[in-house]
Amino acid sequence: MSAGAQLISAPDLHWSSTWEDDVADDEHRVLAALFARCFPRSRTAFTGTRSWSSGRPELRVVGRLDGRAVAHVGVLRRFLRVAERSASVLVGDVGLVAVDPDVQGRGFGAQLLGRTASTLHDLELPFGYLTCGDHVAPFYATAGWMRVDGGTRMVRADGRVQVYGGVSMVLPVHAPLQEWPAGCLVDRNGLEI
Ligand SMILES: CC(C)(COP(=O)(O)OP(=O)(O)OC[C@H]1O[C@@H](n2cnc3c(N)ncnc32)[C@H](O)[C@@H]1OP(=O)(O)O)[C@@H](O)C(=O)NCCC(=O)NCCS
Repeated sequence: MSAGAQLISAPDLHWSSTWEDDVADDEHRVLAALFARCFPRSRTAFTGTRSWSSGRPELRVVGRLDGRAVAHVGVLRRFLRVAERSASVLVGDVGLVAVDPDVQGRGFGAQLLGRTASTLHDLELPFGYLTCGDHVAPFYATAGWMRVDGGTRMVRADGRVQVYGGVSMVLPVHAPLQEWPAGCLVDRNGLEI
């Protein structure tokens, strides 16, 4: 940083967490509009009150700036099946990670991932889990998420079962990364959020 240069940090967002049953239609509408802007190439259109793409989260964490929803993450607790080990791993499956394009690149995504980690911690989960495109994996890596090999088998939005072609990532929360079944294919047995 050059002498005299100033680091201008983003203001703290105002955060709320809402269980899916308690999300009102108006809030679904607001989130659908946010996702339409954040995911313009989504195969599923975010219109009306449709604020999800494939699977639905059970918990929504929303960040507001001057009362406007600008950041969102969805969480769903689930067991990933590890057939190779005849075992399952409890995770907080994370998706619909989004910051409004108007305010991207200002540190709100970092705040969002911090809030995601504290939410997973409060839910007493061993791991966070997500699948994402290769291009966005470095974003998650800045907050401690680790790429894992082995792949994720899951139900696609069109109902077909596939091994996801992108990246699978894990965040150690209440368990150390050494307890992750490294190198094993995991079955999500459901839809990506
Ligand atoms: C990805 C997204 C949430 C990032 O939000 P953001 O507010 O722009 O992120 P921040 O400004 O807080 O950046 C945090 C860090 O991640 C890095 N980063 C942000 N977006 C990145 C990207 N697409 N690829 C790689 N690194 C990225 C930043 O450089 C920064 O790193 P630093 O801390 O080392 O400086 C936002 O760009 C977005 O909503 N994109 C569209 C939806 C999307 O792709 N969601 C992810 C679906 S899996």
